Amino acid sequence: MVEAWVAHQVPQCGYCQSGQVMAATALLKQTPQPTEDDIAGAMVNLCRCGTYNAISAAVRQAAQA
Ligand code: FES
Repeated sequence: MVEAWVAHQVPQCGYCQSGQVMAATALLKQTPQPTEDDIAGAMVNLCRCGTYNAISAAVRQAAQA
């Protein structure tokens, strides 16, 4: 997951990122091939920097690994 985060340069200020990575990891443990709706439904932690598109891309990449 962290490799996908780095590949998509997800973090901005970094404040929310540990929680985002944990939420993404939990999502893929429960749903290894998530849909966009699954990702949107699971990634509900707030990010003041608005990294949501990059988060979604990283989760999709991690799901394909
Ligand atoms: S990266 Fe800044 S709050 Fe999410």
